[in-house]
Amino acid sequence: MADSVTYYEDQKLFLLTTSNTAYLIGQLPGGGLIQLYWGPRLPRLADYPVPPPDRQHSSDHARLNSLLAELPTLHGIQEIEPCIRTVFHDGTRDLRLSYQSHHIDVATGELAILLKDHFYPLEVTLRYRIFADCDLITRRVELTNRGSEPVELEEVLSGSLVLPFERAGQYRLTHLAGAWAMETQVNRTMLTPGRKLLEGRHNYTGHLANPFWALDLVGPEGAGASETAGEVWFGGLAWGGNWKIVVEQLNMPAPLTRVAAGLNDWDFSWHLGAGQSFETPWLTIGYTNQGWGQVSRNLHRYQRRHVLPAAFAEKLRPVLYNSWEAVHFAVNQSQQMTLAEKAARLGAELFVVDDGWFGERDHDRAGLGDWTPNLQKFPQGLTPLIERVNGLGMQFGLWVEPEMVNPDSDLYRAHPNWVYHFPTRDRTTSRNQLMLNLARPEVEQYLFEMLDRLLADHNISYIKWDFNRTISEAGWPDAPAEQQREFWVRHVQAFYRLVDRLRHNHPAVSFEACAGGGGRADMGTLSHFDHVWTSDNTDPYDRLPIQQGYSLAYAPNTMYCWVTNWDHNRSHYTLRYRFFSSFMGSLGIGADLNQWSETETQEAADLIASYKAIRPLIQHGEFYRLTGLSEAERMAVQYLAEDGSECVVLAFHYRRHFWQPQPRLLLQGLNPQAIYEVVKDSIEDMADSESNPLQMSGQALMSLGLTTSFHETYDSNLFILKRL
Ligand code: DGJ
Repeated sequence: MADSVTYYEDQKLFLLTTSNTAYLIGQLPGGGLIQLYWGPRLPRLADYPVPPPDRQHSSDHARLNSLLAELPTLHGIQEIEPCIRTVFHDGTRDLRLSYQSHHIDVATGELAILLKDHFYPLEVTLRYRIFADCDLITRRVELTNRGSEPVELEEVLSGSLVLPFERAGQYRLTHLAGAWAMETQVNRTMLTPGRKLLEGRHNYTGHLANPFWALDLVGPEGAGASETAGEVWFGGLAWGGNWKIVVEQLNMPAPLTRVAAGLNDWDFSWHLGAGQSFETPWLTIGYTNQGWGQVSRNLHRYQRRHVLPAAFAEKLRPVLYNSWEAVHFAVNQSQQMTLAEKAARLGAELFVVDDGWFGERDHDRAGLGDWTPNLQKFPQGLTPLIERVNGLGMQFGLWVEPEMVNPDSDLYRAHPNWVYHFPTRDRTTSRNQLMLNLARPEVEQYLFEMLDRLLADHNISYIKWDFNRTISEAGWPDAPAEQQREFWVRHVQAFYRLVDRLRHNHPAVSFEACAGGGGRADMGTLSHFDHVWTSDNTDPYDRLPIQQGYSLAYAPNTMYCWVTNWDHNRSHYTLRYRFFSSFMGSLGIGADLNQWSETETQEAADLIASYKAIRPLIQHGEFYRLTGLSEAERMAVQYLAEDGSECVVLAFHYRRHFWQPQPRLLLQGLNPQAIYEVVKDSIEDMADSESNPLQMSGQALMSLGLTTSFHETYDSNLFILKRL
């Protein structure tokens, strides 16, 4: 069996296979599709269950088949979350789909199954793509109205999945949730009968929850999957707008576990006119029996190879400097030039001017929307600073927040109706700003022209695209009544289109997505942006669980991590600890460089040079967590070159009782027979270790481990290993 899609005509089965997993879809006599299997790949077709499922607990196959539906709709017996809810012009809300035809594209590993309603001229295509190298499958739903009457869409999810029955009742849900300054925290709960809803409904991905889920099997002793072993079924949605993931468990009487994911149907509606089509976002799904580490590595590889915009996917992320944490809105030309000189001395490669450079933007109460340089701060515009930055050998980057406007701005005074609003209601501000309605074509075009001009007139290499409020008064009164709620989807479509058009005109510019910290981290955003800002919380200890949670679903090179002066507990972190915490992804510096002493500046320069030396491993290597996802006081991660020749280990530790031994780190993914030289232990030891390097076999490193050397509160170690 090849890695891809096979149709077995006699049995009417679609078998989708990746290197290690399989997904089997069956066809019922009436043309309905059911999911028969999702799990480890098996040697023969005969090893997989075939329809009708032989379940001793129920002779009611009609009910069972509806519970196993590959694409549940509002039809027949209603017990599970439907993927599609439609209203036809005569008021009928029952959608009965059956198989018509299919197409397999062997070259691309793509399967399209065409379904049609029994009566109304509505076509639904289920599209699947196989990413065998990442052990992942993506899927989405496409609808086309072939009739002359409109169809109202009330819900269209990207897909729905059945978890294996045999194990039901033992599933544990792991998901990422948080808030501003505490994004992507790992949350876990055992499933019980009922529905668990994870969702975002703020017109962006959101801080409160992230569109990723995973279910692992918890055995009778209470142990779930570990970093290296155990079964996990997982998925993520490529959408940076309103989304939902429903995890449900029904007793029938054996528990049935399903997950449905896609666009949030909360306040959603879409008017599908005659001849029109609608596509959902892609849903990525995967299975592994190798534990949490493999979940992350599969997703990271997929993002690096297939999701991130191609222009920068293979490129190393530059070390950036950004003065937001140091000076907030009080930027000006001479101060930025001084900081640029200091940043260049440290080894920064990209100098970013954050908020405050434009309009009347001296604080967050004015200026958003007026994207021309503030001439008090930059008397000849941005060009003199950009030329100085370029002259220092660095690229120049700029912050914008295009989707927002302050009421105190020329843009808002000229176009008060461009924001979301209801005419009879006050407009609620948040951070003193309102949200532009990007679903309006004139707003999209205005922003495109403004940003296109900004990029054409300046030598800008990087844009940090921010989004600092959630929506309120979500109204679009000028739109036809039946389309007023389409903006939830149209806004995000326009946002993606805008970035793509800018990238097309300015292919050398890279883009970072930010939403008041890490509110725009998802695979949809990452298919248009090169990186995301992880969190406004840059305390190096607080960052560890945020970065660890992020690492579960997203690749390290997509995560910018800054070294700043944050220390809300007065922990007096060493510079080295701050840097090592930021080494976990793409390195940035956000501290006030004027406050660093000569010694600190020199140490920082050395640390940046060390980062650059190991950057290819961190940004493009295979990622391993050496400690559990829930361990906060002690954390260690490993980045291994794809060819296995080198690796970096970063280890962090809060504090140790006198009687506790130094923790040992059991490495992963090494060649057991090979001998590795532990070239560096910590930065201070680097020189010594050159003359007296430690050598250990891969087997010893993986079973006995490396001994840490933690001596202080908030200590950290860096190890670099090279295969001999
Ligand atoms: C929120 C971002 O997360 C910060 O990094 C900074 O850019 C501010 N916005 C600027 O207003």
